[in-house]
Amino acid sequence: MMARLIIGNDKSKSRIDKNIYGHFSEHLGRCIYEGIWVGKDSTIPNTDGIRNDVAEALRKIKIPVLRWPGGCFADEYHWMDGIGPYEQRPKMVNTHWGGVVENNHFGTHEFMRLCELIGAEPYICGNLGSGTVQEMQQWVEYITFDGESPVSNIRRENGREEPWKLPYFGVGNENWGCGGNMRAEYYADEYRRYATYIRNFGGNKVYKIACGPNTADYHWTEVLMREAGNMMHGLSLHYYTVPGTDWEHKGSAVDFNENGWFETLKKTLFMEELIKRHSAIMDRYDKDKRVALIVDEWGTWYAVEPGTNPGFLYQQNTLRDALVAGINLNIFNNNCDRVRMANIAQMINVLQAVILTEDDKIVLTPTYHVFDMYKVHQDAELLPLMLECDEYRLGEDTLPQISASASVDKDGKVNISLCNLSHEDSADIDCPLSGLSVFKGGMPSSVTGTILTAPVMNAHNTFSDPENIKPTAFTGASLKDGRLTAVLPAMSVTLLTVE
Ligand code: AHR
Repeated sequence: MMARLIIGNDKSKSRIDKNIYGHFSEHLGRCIYEGIWVGKDSTIPNTDGIRNDVAEALRKIKIPVLRWPGGCFADEYHWMDGIGPYEQRPKMVNTHWGGVVENNHFGTHEFMRLCELIGAEPYICGNLGSGTVQEMQQWVEYITFDGESPVSNIRRENGREEPWKLPYFGVGNENWGCGGNMRAEYYADEYRRYATYIRNFGGNKVYKIACGPNTADYHWTEVLMREAGNMMHGLSLHYYTVPGTDWEHKGSAVDFNENGWFETLKKTLFMEELIKRHSAIMDRYDKDKRVALIVDEWGTWYAVEPGTNPGFLYQQNTLRDALVAGINLNIFNNNCDRVRMANIAQMINVLQAVILTEDDKIVLTPTYHVFDMYKVHQDAELLPLMLECDEYRLGEDTLPQISASASVDKDGKVNISLCNLSHEDSADIDCPLSGLSVFKGGMPSSVTGTILTAPVMNAHNTFSDPENIKPTAFTGASLKDGRLTAVLPAMSVTLLTVE
């Protein structure tokens, strides 16, 4: 059957917050060190110690917000170890991630510089699990206070006269697990205590994000909204797509067949149900949707690349990951009335990375290309859509064959992102567009497109073949009498722009 896509006229429903296209970078494996930070004396071209090639690639995809320093690392991190002259910064052991030595050379000043260089807003996650209230309070004060205080004076001694803006702050990470193994009831009280001391200085307004549920822990959401909902701006949600029988037996990133393809896409589609069910609980306490659901860790998690440190979570990234990215971003777009930030895990060299590095070389992954294609949705108005499509069947199991979302940007261009999940069937799309008030005279006049696809499902880029899979112009769409039709190849992510 032909897939029918009906786009509604009601463009005022919700804005797709650009922060849905956010990223996450943790002191884990080679994300920060090697991936971002090479130090000022490196032979790899850098600006103040930050790789130029990586910064340039990140600027291109317009990363709106960057979360740091963890993850599980955040609840072991003591920010004062990461300021001042490098030779005086104490070393620590990164117990969570490989037991390696952390020399603290990448700290607050370096993170803020990174954000400036790539044009992202900072989202810092504080230490509630093993840190004090005073420590958390003073971190925000160190960064944002323009007056005289012991910590703001230390900032000046460290070479930064003006305070920075710090728009987003997380009050702990996964406090149901690595962040202290707390019960929801206990964390809710701790959240209230710590959040009390996160102050707004000068014109800086901190948007406070509470640790939210692990996957389908609906009890956590209920308790947090009931006990602390009025003291937070956002509640986080973590959900990873983990193919394989269990955490101990995860599937490979590259070596998989159609079962691994199907299983991964099925698991990733669970994100929709999670968002709907957590949102329904939030609606009972916050019908006006003041509190955002912040999906600040999401993405694929496979077995590590053979021969690499198991604590470094380094994995390849294939066309399958491009589909995972496209599907999740469509889900976030379509639920943007509640989901107002998401941060893929993680930006470089860890889990579903957009960039991989090896010495002075970089590779842009298929996931990078999806973020590049979808950036047109950032801050655009969501267009509601109704989709009727075939089932994608494998054995007895089925999934919808198509995932889609649509928005209209400030210039009146309509962008439609479409994923064809099937590993073998193309999909015919029919989309009546005449009468849509976003077009002059209610009639669209042109369509252009970009597609990411490949002949094999595990197509990926390597350091010796970095452009094996990359977007190309899409010529399979046409417009006639206000009707958009397209043929989407199997295993593809497509972005159509209609004006
Ligand atoms: O992203 C890797 C880890 O996954 C993070 O440190 C933690 O928050 C989550 O369990």
